[in-house]
Amino acid sequence: MADYKNRLTTSSGAPVGDNQNSITAGERGPALIQDVHLLEKLAHFDRERIPERVVHAKGAGAFGYFEVTNDEISKYTKADFLNEKGKRTPMFIRFSTVAGELGSADTLRDPRGFAVKFYTQEGNYDLVGNNTPIFFIRDAIKFPDFIHTQKRNPQTNLKDKNAVWDFWSHSPESLHQVTYLHGDRGIPATYRHMNGYGSHTYKWVNEEGEAFWVKYHFVSDQGVKGMDEKVADEIAGTNPDYHTEDLFNSIENGDYPSWTLYVQIIPFEDYKTYKWDIFDVTKTVSQKDYPRIEVGKMVLNRNPENYFAEVEQAALSPAHLVPGIEASPDKMLQGRLFSYSDTQRYRLGVNHEQLPVNRPVVDIKNNQRDGYMQQGNYGTNINYEPNSYSEEPKEDTSNRINPFEVEGEAAQVPYNSNDHYTQAGDLYRLMSADEKDRLIEAVVGHLGQCTMEEVKLRQIGHFYKADAEYGERVAEGLGLHVPEEVKA
Ligand code: HEM
Repeated sequence: MADYKNRLTTSSGAPVGDNQNSITAGERGPALIQDVHLLEKLAHFDRERIPERVVHAKGAGAFGYFEVTNDEISKYTKADFLNEKGKRTPMFIRFSTVAGELGSADTLRDPRGFAVKFYTQEGNYDLVGNNTPIFFIRDAIKFPDFIHTQKRNPQTNLKDKNAVWDFWSHSPESLHQVTYLHGDRGIPATYRHMNGYGSHTYKWVNEEGEAFWVKYHFVSDQGVKGMDEKVADEIAGTNPDYHTEDLFNSIENGDYPSWTLYVQIIPFEDYKTYKWDIFDVTKTVSQKDYPRIEVGKMVLNRNPENYFAEVEQAALSPAHLVPGIEASPDKMLQGRLFSYSDTQRYRLGVNHEQLPVNRPVVDIKNNQRDGYMQQGNYGTNINYEPNSYSEEPKEDTSNRINPFEVEGEAAQVPYNSNDHYTQAGDLYRLMSADEKDRLIEAVVGHLGQCTMEEVKLRQIGHFYKADAEYGERVAEGLGLHVPEEVKA
């Protein structure tokens, strides 16, 4: 008697009679095209891979919740999920490295992605940040070139330190992040031992329509710990999935990692006068000027059940905003608002928002229809607006964006500050003597792999301008004589 509950089927549901032997003409073959189970099995297998993320390909994900711990946050934003102390919102996070491919080692020196999806009652809110409060560049138009230098050389298919340092040395706005990256935070001990930052300045709007600028800081409750590069390199060879494994096992063992979320609130008008351009993502905003305010706690307490379905198919996008949270004019952020959902339409398909990990917890009501892999298509509902049917979804004008006045010509205008050195130098001077030693060793180790003397000298010039000692020590480490004009 067949076990109907547990029998193997084809994807159209027919029972499979034999999953070990293909249908052949006679004992020794050849195989017959009528073996549709064999054909389907091979055909589906042939299509198992989807494109990896163009950046941040290697990552690990987990689920959990976010709980508000401060009643005062609704003074600054009407975001529903932040409006009450004790309110819990389910969330998903994906940690990642930036430059490596899907199978690359977790412990390489690289920024780490820190991408959070909050499943709120007003739609998904994604905060797609890194473990660094700043970035290498500040205009989206430079991003593809930058990433080309981080990926493989078109001829050799090798990682290319000449390209990396050539680009950085020609883009001095990267100096702050380059210093951050070669410091102790450049290789976190685990994903649990690093902070997360929104990096850009975002805009919050409260119920009264008052706007504020905001910077996000997730501070690790496990503490921040780095990993020595020699240890990291060894682990890269012996266990390339070290951080992935650590995250999975700690959650599996009930040792749930958590982060406290703080924000810096910047009064709206301050963007005109603050000493740094708050929309320049290569700069930080001082905590002395805008102290951190606690918002809540994020706890990771559930591992994905299926990596591909829940982590590889996750689509996090800075464009996923909710009422009370808006974009700022930051030119990098503006480019990102397009790029993520665009790549996801290519990587996962136009209906990727319907996949379980991406599906909002609220009903989706709009007039978008059809497309590959459509999962429902709204049945008999009409598909246009405006219309005469009162029960059909209508726009809610209370959710129009908070107006932001702009002036000037439409033009290609560079940022008006070229001080790439003060904050990078401050970061260097803030480091302990030991950390400075490790920073110099890391910079010398990596810049030393660049074979172009002209590039090395140009980069050393930037280190000099940040702090003469910083430049001096890198030059000494590389055994280079630096002409006076390079230092100035
Ligand atoms: C992933 C573009 C800057 C953090 C991605 C992806 C693209 C992209 C196309 C792949 C997304 C996917 O396939 O799902 C860009 C562009 C940038 C930029 C065009 C600049 C204009 C940044 C910055 C940060 C950042 C400044 C951090 C503050 C991330 C993270 C991911 C990611 C964390 C991985 C998301 C995930 O885990 O699925 N980026 N990026 N990116 N980016 Fe960016």
